[in-house]
Amino acid sequence: MSLFDKFEKTAALYNQLSEMGKNPFTVVMEEVLGPTRAMIKGRETVLAGTHNYLGQTFEPKAIAAAKEALDNEGTGTTGSRFANGTFAGHKRLERDIADFLGMKHCVVFSTGYVANLGAIAGLIDPSEDAVLVDADCHACIYDACSLSGAETIRFRHNDPDSLDKRLSRLDPKFKGKLVCIEGMYSMYGDTAPVKEFVEVAHRHGAMLLVDEAHSFGVYGKTGKGVAEAEGVMDKIDFYTGTFSKALAAIGGFVASNHPQAEYLRFSSRPYKFTASPSPATIASAGAALKNIKETPAIREALWANAERLHAALTQFGLRLASGPAPVISVLLPTKEEAFAAWNFLLDQGVYVNMAIPPGTPGKDSLLRLAVSSAHTGDDIDQLVAAYGAMAEAFQAARVTA
Ligand SMILES: Cc1ncc(COP(=O)(O)O)c(C=O)c1O
Repeated sequence: MSLFDKFEKTAALYNQLSEMGKNPFTVVMEEVLGPTRAMIKGRETVLAGTHNYLGQTFEPKAIAAAKEALDNEGTGTTGSRFANGTFAGHKRLERDIADFLGMKHCVVFSTGYVANLGAIAGLIDPSEDAVLVDADCHACIYDACSLSGAETIRFRHNDPDSLDKRLSRLDPKFKGKLVCIEGMYSMYGDTAPVKEFVEVAHRHGAMLLVDEAHSFGVYGKTGKGVAEAEGVMDKIDFYTGTFSKALAAIGGFVASNHPQAEYLRFSSRPYKFTASPSPATIASAGAALKNIKETPAIREALWANAERLHAALTQFGLRLASGPAPVISVLLPTKEEAFAAWNFLLDQGVYVNMAIPPGTPGKDSLLRLAVSSAHTGDDIDQLVAAYGAMAEAFQAARVTA
């Protein structure tokens, strides 16, 4: 039984949450009605807790491409990228992503999580390299560091001076140094000063990896991400991304201008030892990429919705984690209050994410609203009304609390 002893704490939290109301970690979308609506607990609900930033889940061209791939190539590849699961579609998508980003090389992986595992563990030799990671980086970057076996050094979130200090004090025995940051951080919706990080990393002879999972398609003049917005697309060493957010599919990639990035196909166990994304998934991601590239109005609609929602929530006096962004988080002092407020919103027909420590960067609990370009005027009105009522009912969620 000792293997299960560790689950007791989880079980206690699970039971506590279930007794207090609906449990945010067991939500089922019983019927999906469109990109921004689903039936949850028998009620039509506005989805503002998924990362469908560009509303591509029901894009007709993506659905048609997926159906065609299904008919022509079957349901799965039954093989890994390395050995027996690379189809022409995977190579085409790698070319399309590289062209979109203006980078020379791209390697497609099975998910964004796997892409980070593959990039970091594939690059690092633990006997001679070190990894430096922003303290708020996603779990997959930390998991990648564990998989690599390298010495991992954290620096303060979004603080290039902290990175500078860490690199200055680093043991000279390390030959290779990899710095990992994200473009937009998904808990608070804040963005990294990528340009400053490029300068610090390169001054110390380190390489920079930017995970743009949440900012690909969303930030920058043409949607290339925060690195584009900061004017340093040509300076970053490795760009990682996912198909599971703006492209509304599943899969991930590493892009780079370094020709040696191609060797990740050999050095990266997460490339070699898991099945490749299915033909339908690859086809829909490719069609969504083409669509968002050719239709800047989609990104403009996302930002218009984000700005409208951020302004309304600010006016309600809610304590927000950052400025207007596709992720708008309301901070609450305790997990009990976050839980009650989350239930309150669900009862108003609005689904958002709840996050509690230790899954959050600070001690705060938070309700995370993810905006979509596909949110209609009615969706936004319902979101605004629900958050307005929540601000009234939960004084703890307000700045003045
Ligand atoms: C910053 C970041 N990187 C990577 C991932 C993993 O992406 P995927 O869902 O494709 O595995 C996520 C997922 O939420 C993420 O937030």
